[in-house]
Amino acid sequence: MSEWLDRVFCEDALTGLSRIPDGAVDLILTDPPYNLGKDYGNASDQQGEAEFLAWTARWIDLAIPKLKDNGSLYIFATWRYSPEIFVMLKQRLTMMNEIIWDRRVPSMGGSVRSFSSVHDTIGFFVKRKDYYFDLDAVRIPYDEATKKARSRSIFVGSKWLELGYNPKDLWSVSRLHKEHPERAEHPTQKPLEIIERMIKASCPLGGIVLDPFMGSGTTALAASRTGRRFTGFELNEDYCAIIEQRLTTPIADTIAQSKAAKRARKAAADTTNQE
Ligand SMILES: C[S@@+](CC[C@H](N)C(=O)[O-])C[C@H]1O[C@@H](n2cnc3c(N)ncnc32)[C@H](O)[C@@H]1O
Repeated sequence: MSEWLDRVFCEDALTGLSRIPDGAVDLILTDPPYNLGKDYGNASDQQGEAEFLAWTARWIDLAIPKLKDNGSLYIFATWRYSPEIFVMLKQRLTMMNEIIWDRRVPSMGGSVRSFSSVHDTIGFFVKRKDYYFDLDAVRIPYDEATKKARSRSIFVGSKWLELGYNPKDLWSVSRLHKEHPERAEHPTQKPLEIIERMIKASCPLGGIVLDPFMGSGTTALAASRTGRRFTGFELNEDYCAIIEQRLTTPIADTIAQSKAAKRARKAAADTTNQE
């Protein structure tokens, strides 16, 4: 077995990417620092604008050669730098979609001199026209009521009605709030639902997913849950420990741990209130 497969290396992606042979991965799925000043225990999200864009171009040029010819790349960004990053990527790959992830942020105040930003911008890029894409794996089934409502003879036997419709480019999935069972101690952890959809659509079973910026390891976990292989990097040792834990603890146990922690917090609060 290749020593770089099914592992997340706790090291700088810009040096670590040399471990991976060129043309070896089916999918690059990544959520790099956004340069919004977030604290990941390192300065990666707190760079000057020119420095950040030069750094982004550097890792992109190290990562793209790792893709197979029919491979794809998904990248999370925010409106602040998605224009520059998407132009960079369009010079190297073909852009297929801009997906908007509506994080379903509840309305509670927000910006007062502009509109509150409640979405991430995701770029979907491919290397060549014959890229791998499995639409059937990500179709969204209709509920029985809708199926019944579309029972006119012209619809009978339609694949979209039987297997479900193809997802649109607006994805409305709740962010992971503090009490969410999936939630790990990472400030920008992404929901498995979103990452698994990308993997199922753009990486064949048994294929390889690369994420140079693993954070809490969502990409690795999603790959493993969907029968794909993974590789990647994370700079922060505490996050590397979280990745290890997420990869070895079944989600059911995580949910049980989270419920137990919630009960303990409630019991502690009740005790404090009685004192
Ligand atoms: C936006 S977060 C990724 C979150 C991840 N998608 C998740 O669901 O948990 C970006 C991560 O990149 C890591 N990082 C920043 N610079 C890095 C580098 N040069 N090499 C590897 N990881 C890096 C940060 O520590 C941070 O955890």
